[in-house]
Amino acid sequence: MSTAPVVLVTGGAGYIGSHTLIALHEAGYAPVVVDNLDNASLRAIERVRALTQAQIPFHQVDLRDGPALSQVVAQHQPQACIHFAGLKAVGESVAQPLRYYHNNLLGTMELLRVLEEAECFHMVFSSSATVYGDAQEMPLTEDVPLSATNPYGRTKLFIEHMLFDVAAAQKRWRCMNLRYFNPVGAHPSGQIGEDPSGIPNNLMPFITQVAVGRRPHLQIFGDDYSTPDGTGVRDYIHVVDLAKAHVAALAALPKITGCEAVNVGTGRGSSVLEVLRAMEAASGRAIPYQVAPRRAGDVAVSYADPSKAQRLLGWQAEHDLTAMCQDAWRWQEQNPQGYAG
Ligand code: NAD
Ligand code: UD1
Repeated sequence: MSTAPVVLVTGGAGYIGSHTLIALHEAGYAPVVVDNLDNASLRAIERVRALTQAQIPFHQVDLRDGPALSQVVAQHQPQACIHFAGLKAVGESVAQPLRYYHNNLLGTMELLRVLEEAECFHMVFSSSATVYGDAQEMPLTEDVPLSATNPYGRTKLFIEHMLFDVAAAQKRWRCMNLRYFNPVGAHPSGQIGEDPSGIPNNLMPFITQVAVGRRPHLQIFGDDYSTPDGTGVRDYIHVVDLAKAHVAALAALPKITGCEAVNVGTGRGSSVLEVLRAMEAASGRAIPYQVAPRRAGDVAVSYADPSKAQRLLGWQAEHDLTAMCQDAWRWQEQNPQGYAG
């Protein structure tokens, strides 16, 4: 029987989860996936299995279904959990706040209850730089006061508080709240990647869909910000680097007490126009664009101070914007319709 530590991965069929399964496997862990496939395809799991040559167990379960979740946990007895499962579209969360609160908050509460019952107290949680609200001071450090500007962001903020509270009440809990900046890119094989349903909300999948001919042009939301070229600046992080940050976070859990929040970014900002030019170079295609009004809720600039991740996790990003665009493009070119193709 394998002695690899079992890690429960909620939302493991999704974009970041599927990449993390590969990183976990490579690091000698045995991941077990729970996902309701609300925003994912089983093909992602099949492709991860093919890439890793590992029979990664998959359970189609909603986290809010306590009995089903308990059964999975009893069967596999995980030693830790990486919690990706959640709804993540900002605009949708404004239109359907109760759906977001119900899914993200109840799902997490049920998960924590089941894990406590099974005495599994190690957790890495997908938080987001969205918990810094519209903070202006760059780079963002983990001690910037937290706030949220929309229901999605509030679910991240509440869950961070929830984890601090459970860790204060039960000293065996060790939680790492990873605050992701802007995850982009894909596995270098081109076999797995980001596959948004409907019109992409985020920049990189929109750009690759324009490059591949699925959409006529990109809209740049504002070119009058006080940034070097007037367009918004973000800290894009390669999803493979992000996946490795989860492995580093798992390994660091035994040396912390309670809960820690850690930024996961590169520390470098890129503008919308820089991303567009880098994707033109990666794809060898011109990417038409139009300048549109600013998008409500956008900040001009956001980038991380990633030094805590280096100190605490011994992790730092390795891929630059060129690699992010090359890998995102390989995935899009090989899978023009995503997993549906
Ligand atoms: P994703 O939608 O691709 O993955 C989330 C997965 O969770 C999906 O496979 C979905 O089917 C599953 N899921 C949702 N609700 C569930 C439930 N109740 N029970 C079981 N499964 C459920 O998203 P992603 O980009 O991989 O993001 C993963 C996590 O990281 C999310 O929590 C997201 O909020 C967070 N995050 C993402 C970004 C980003 O830009 N992608 C940035 C910051 C934080
Ligand atoms: C957005 C969310 C954030 C969430 C993150 C990951 C908002 C306000 N913020 O971050 O809460 O955690 O996604 O899901 O929605 N842009 C364009 N044209 C486009 C798309 C984007 O010009 O079609 C610009 C944006 O104005 C921004 C940059 O590209 O300057 C990055 O946008 P995006 O990829 O949506 O990420 P964030 O806005 O940083």
